[in-house]
Formats: sequence, structure tokens, C-alpha cells
Amino acid sequence: MTTSTGVIIRAQPKRSQGIKIHGAEAFEGMRRAGRLAAECLDMLVPHVVPGVSTDYLDTLAREFTLDHRALPACLFYKGYSKTVCISPNHVVCHGIPGDRTLREGDIANIDVTVIVDGWHGDHSRMYGVGAVSPRARRLVDITYQSIERGIAAVKPGATVGDVGYAIQSYVESMRCSVVRDFCGHGLGEIFHDAPNILHFGRPGEGETLREGMLFTIEPMVNLGRPQVKLLNDGWTAVTRDKSLSAQCEHSVGVTATGAEVFTLSPTGLFKPPIQDEA
Ligand code: MF3
Ligand code: CO
Ligand code: CO
Repeated sequence: MTTSTGVIIRAQPKRSQGIKIHGAEAFEGMRRAGRLAAECLDMLVPHVVPGVSTDYLDTLAREFTLDHRALPACLFYKGYSKTVCISPNHVVCHGIPGDRTLREGDIANIDVTVIVDGWHGDHSRMYGVGAVSPRARRLVDITYQSIERGIAAVKPGATVGDVGYAIQSYVESMRCSVVRDFCGHGLGEIFHDAPNILHFGRPGEGETLREGMLFTIEPMVNLGRPQVKLLNDGWTAVTRDKSLSAQCEHSVGVTATGAEVFTLSPTGLFKPPIQDEA
């Protein structure tokens, strides 16, 4: 809409009724948004080092996004005031960047959402800060494996429960747990839309997937129990038992035969290299 002063304001599209089916143009838009989100997280890789402040990483991501004629979707979203979420160690998700510095041995999720020509690219990965313990690396590896299994379950005719089951059954077979309190979500021109993509479930349950659906898969995996607790800032979710937590996220579209992943890194850095402890 245009105000009387001629300032253009983006109308916030409403969460749609039912699940939207998108066409080729949407897939084109999602490819551009997804690629930029991946390039933003690629750019951060060399900066995630011991002593860096999470605010500095946020600033880099914000400037990168704006320099590429995109908008940071999280900035001012429901009162959030940063471009990325940075969730180290026992932080499950939605860690707010600030003065806190990352330390040798930390693992941290960085989650960015960019808007390119109205389309949302929502993407997160795990970074190792310096050298990391074997149990932290194992958790990160299991988390990446779990999203791959979730994505492999996506095809027309499969259900949301099939995707959740693929993730949960694998994670629990590795004696880890899946967080229940947060889920993936439909997206497109809307940031958080229908359907909810739970990372647990039973085969055949829930909505049936159809070609043209767009959503994220973003499993949070804990070394300990699945329960989380929200901190007083109203955003930061941590594990109740203080166990380590990891997450990764892709934005995907359902194709005729499976899934197209929009947030793949052109440089293959989706899994940034993690250094092992000596
Ligand atoms: N990017 C997150 C997601 O995967 C949402 C963060 S909302 C924020 O859905 F406001 F915390 F940024
Ligand atoms: Co998301
Ligand atoms: Co995200």
C-alpha cells in the first residue's frame, strides 16, 4: 500500500486458510531467496571463531542481506530486533544475538531468514567454534542426518507424519531426543504459514503432501531429554536438563517426485567443517 506521503509500506500477508499450492513462479522466487540465505550463512563461516560476539555476527548478516537488496525477515518480527538467531550449546532455538562471545568448544546454530522479492528463504546450520568435543560433533552429525531423512520422506502422497517419523525414529535410535515445542512451517510470501511440520509423528498421519507445497524442516535434537524452557527474554529456548542441543533448517518445495531444497549452499558449506579436539 502507499501512504499519503508516498512511502511504500509492505502489506503483511495474512496466514492463509488451508495449505497453499504454489506454481513455477513461486519456485523461482524461493530458489533466489533460499540461495541468498545459504550465501549469508556461507559468509559467516570464517567469522565464527573463539571470542567473536554474537552481535557482530548479527551485524554481518544484516549488512549482507541489505547489500543484496533483500530484507531480514526476523528484524521487527513480533518484536524481535535482530537479523539472525544464534543458539549455542544448550540453547535450543531463538537465541538473541548480544554481547555474549562464542568460546572454544561451543557449538552454535545460526538461523537466518531473508526476503527476496517477497519470497522467504529460511535456513540454519551448526557451526563449531574452534575444536569441539566428540559428543558435540556426534550430536551435530545426527542432526544433519535427521534432516536428510526428513527430506527424503517428502513426496506427493506422503504425509507430514511420515516426515516426522523419519526424523524421530532415526534420532531416537541414536539415543537422542526430538524437541516437541517447535516445528517447521509452511512459508512462501508468508514467513510462518500452514502446515506445521512436526519433527515427530507416525507414518500416514497428518496432512497429505501435494506438489507445490512449500515448507521448512528444522529439527531440534537434544543429547538429553526433549523438554525445553523459555527464558525471561521471551525468546530464548533452552533444554530443561541443560543438555546440548543442535538444529538445522532447510526451506523445501514438494515436486512431482520428491523435494526441491531451496537453501542448498552453492559452495557446499551446508555443514561447515568442524574441528575435532586434539
Ligand atoms: N527463523 C526462525 C524459524 O525457523 C524464526 C525466528 S523468529 C524470530 O522459523 F523472530 F525469532 F526471529
Ligand atoms: Co523456520
Ligand atoms: Co529459521
